[in-house]
Amino acid sequence: MTATRLWGGRQSGALNPAFEAFNRSLPFDQRLVQEDIAGSMAWARALKQAGVLNSADTKVLIEALEQLSQEVSQDPAALDASQAEDVHAFVEQALIQEVGEVGKRLHTGRSRNDQVATDMRLYVRKAGAELDQQLKNLIEALVQLAEREVDTVLPGYTHLQRAQPISAGHHALCYAEMLGRDAGRLKDALLRQDTSPLGCGALAGTAFPIDREALAKSLGFSSACANSLDAVASRDGLLELVSACSTTMLSLSRLAEDWIFFTSQEAGFLTLSDEVTTGSSLMPQKKNPDALELLRGKTARVLGAWTTLASLQKGLPLAYNKDLQEDKEALFDALDTTSACLEVASVCVGAASYNRERCLQACAEGHLDATDLADLLVAAGVTFRDAHHRIGVLVCAADEGGFELSQLPPDLTREHLPELADLDLAAELSPTRILERRCALGGTAPSRVKQEIERWKTRLKSWNN
Ligand code: ARG
Repeated sequence: MTATRLWGGRQSGALNPAFEAFNRSLPFDQRLVQEDIAGSMAWARALKQAGVLNSADTKVLIEALEQLSQEVSQDPAALDASQAEDVHAFVEQALIQEVGEVGKRLHTGRSRNDQVATDMRLYVRKAGAELDQQLKNLIEALVQLAEREVDTVLPGYTHLQRAQPISAGHHALCYAEMLGRDAGRLKDALLRQDTSPLGCGALAGTAFPIDREALAKSLGFSSACANSLDAVASRDGLLELVSACSTTMLSLSRLAEDWIFFTSQEAGFLTLSDEVTTGSSLMPQKKNPDALELLRGKTARVLGAWTTLASLQKGLPLAYNKDLQEDKEALFDALDTTSACLEVASVCVGAASYNRERCLQACAEGHLDATDLADLLVAAGVTFRDAHHRIGVLVCAADEGGFELSQLPPDLTREHLPELADLDLAAELSPTRILERRCALGGTAPSRVKQEIERWKTRLKSWNN
C-alpha cells in the first residue's frame, strides 16, 4: 500500500515505491514515539499560552495525545503496521484520524526539524540516565571484585611482558577509574543536550509568540536553544554522546582483552563463570570467553557509529538536510550496544574469580623483583643508575644459571651485591613485600588499595547527587 501524503499540495501523484521505502524512517525512529507525543503535548499547551489555540481545542488535542500514548505503549505493533513516513507523521496522522479538523492545528508554527531535534534530546536524556546507572553497576561490581581480590598477587605487564607484581584489586580499580571518567564524559555530553530546540521551526524560528523558555522548562530542559539554525542543524551533541559511548567501549574492550588473556591456558589467572562462556561445536574441552570477545568486537560497532555521525556533519550546509535522518540508526545502535555491553560486563565481573596460586606462581618467574632489588641497592647508598646496571648484569647471570633473583646463591650475592649481604633477600623480594612497598598514593599496596576501595564506595553512595 502506498502512503497518502500528509503534506503534498506541492507534489502530484504517488511517490516512487523505491524512493518511498528509501525515504521512510518510521521503521527505526518509532522508538521516539513517546518523546514525540510528549513534545506535541507541550507544543499544544505553548500554542494555547500564545493565544493560537483555544482551550477547547487544546483539551481535545491533549486528551487525544494522551490516549495515543497509551495505545502505542499497549500495542507497539501499531507503529509497524503504519505506512507513515516517520514518527512525526505517524503521530500527526493518528491525531487527525482521532479528532479530525482540530488535529490539523497542532503543527502550527512547528516543523519536523525542531520536532526531531527535540525528540532526540528527550530520548538521549532517558537512555543516557540508563547508561549512567549501568556504568555505576559495573563500577560497583569492580569495586566488589577489588575487595575480594585485594590480597591476590597478579603479575602486572608492560609490553605484554611480566613487569612487576600488582594486587588484582588494584587491576580491577584501574577499570573503575576508567569507567568513572567515561561516566563523567557521559554526564557532560548530556548536559549539553539540556537545551530545547522546540519552537525553532524549520530553521528561522517560529512566527507565533511562543514563550520558548517556559516551553523548554515544561519538557524538563534547563533552557531553550538560543539560535534556531543551530537548534535544527546541529548534531554535535549526539556525536559527543556517542564519543562517551566510544570511550566506554574502549575501556570495556581493554578489560575484555586483559581477561581473555588472563583466562587463557597460557596465563590461567582468572576463571569466568560458565554463565558467560560457551563450548565449541566440535572440541568437547573448550570453554570459550565469548562474552569478553563480543565486548571487544562490539567496540568496533560503536566506533563505527561515531564515524557515521562525524562524517554526516562534515561540510553539511545549514540548516536541516535530510542527511541528518541518518543520525538515528547510528545513535540508537551505539546506545543499545553500549548498554548491552555494560550489562554483560557486569555479569562477567560479578562472577569472576582469580586463581591465586597460579597468579602467585607466575610472579615467581621472570624477575618481577628486579626493580625492588635495585631499590634495595639504592637504600644502601648506590645511585639508581648504577643499581639498574648492576641488577641488569645480574639478571643475565641468573638467566644463564637458571635461577631467579630471589634465589641468588650466597656466593653470587657476596660477589654482586655485597651491600645487601646481611639482608634476607627471599623475604625482601617476596611479592607481598614488593606490593607493600608501593603504599604511596596510586600504588598497588593492599593497604592503599583498601583505602581506594573505601573512596570508591563513598563515591558510589553519592553517585546520583
Ligand atoms: N525523519 C526526519 C529526520 O529524522 C524528520 C525531519 C524531517 N524534516 C524534513 N525537513 N524533511 O530527520
